[in-house]
Amino acid sequence: MKSIAVLTSGGDSPGMNACIRAVVRTALYHKMDIWGIKRGYEGLMDDEFEKLDSKSVANIIQRGGTVLKTARSTRFMTDEGLRLASESLKRKGIEGLIVIGGDGTFRGALALEKLSGLHIVGCPGTIDNDLRGTDFTIGYDTAINTVIEAVDRIRDTAESHERLFFVEVMGRDAGLIALRSGIGAGAEAILIPETPTDIDDLVRRLEGGRKDKSSKIVIVSEHDAAGGAFKIAETVKAKLPYYDTRVTILGHIQRGGNPTCMDRVNASRMGFASVEALRAGKKGVMVGVVNNTISYTPFANAVKHLQELDPHLLRMVEILSL
Ligand code: F6P
Repeated sequence: MKSIAVLTSGGDSPGMNACIRAVVRTALYHKMDIWGIKRGYEGLMDDEFEKLDSKSVANIIQRGGTVLKTARSTRFMTDEGLRLASESLKRKGIEGLIVIGGDGTFRGALALEKLSGLHIVGCPGTIDNDLRGTDFTIGYDTAINTVIEAVDRIRDTAESHERLFFVEVMGRDAGLIALRSGIGAGAEAILIPETPTDIDDLVRRLEGGRKDKSSKIVIVSEHDAAGGAFKIAETVKAKLPYYDTRVTILGHIQRGGNPTCMDRVNASRMGFASVEALRAGKKGVMVGVVNNTISYTPFANAVKHLQELDPHLLRMVEILSL
């Protein structure tokens, strides 16, 4: 394989730049031409290619976001969009494509690979950690560290004012950010979409436990079936009127910031492995790290959202926060 390209697509995540750097430098080591495609699939349809060299990726390993820019493209998933993308790659003589992104990115890659016959390999870049075939997606570790830092700060003020806080975190329809950061921050309760939320049970738990507790923190994963943090806080407040209650939505601060060492290392390993995978003739797979070992999962399996949550973890949270 003489010429390959790389793009980032969907929501950005800290560590994407480390992955791009690894892809570029590995490809150059093997004397391949390496093209960067701007704005994900949008730029691919619009011919936004840039030839990359070693210097193009200097000093980016530590930076959040993606130097290639990203987009969520609905146009790409039309017949016309896929045709444009396929022709654009063929015109440039590109034989292999590396896509860094999440669920939507890999669904797009599946469709493009089917139409174009091109070899495509993926690296999991999303803060949500909602892909099968990797223990951790690129950006997840940074996001959960951002959340615990924010919740630690909230805990300080919650303690001083003796308040009950509801903190809403991202994750789309997966509760992994909430679960892990909630454990790390010592939350009193964690509400996630994967398990039904019973408000009466939550109220009982908030009332139970040590009576001399000054502050209580409930982590709410966005898209919890009981509603967002504001709605849940309102319902709880109606049942516990004597609590001084506040709500914080953490939002997009979870997507930015310098990647943690773990994200930089995983991103570097996966970027490196994705080029090696293309050279070995692999296609239609997402590179992951499972049990500290590189693994390859077909796109169709990676996007199945079957990350199972350990039910013992939620029980542990109840016991540890007493
Ligand atoms: O998939 C990453 C993510 O940050 C989700 O956690 C969140 O639901 C969504 O993207 C937000 O998307 P946008 O940045 O397009 O508002």
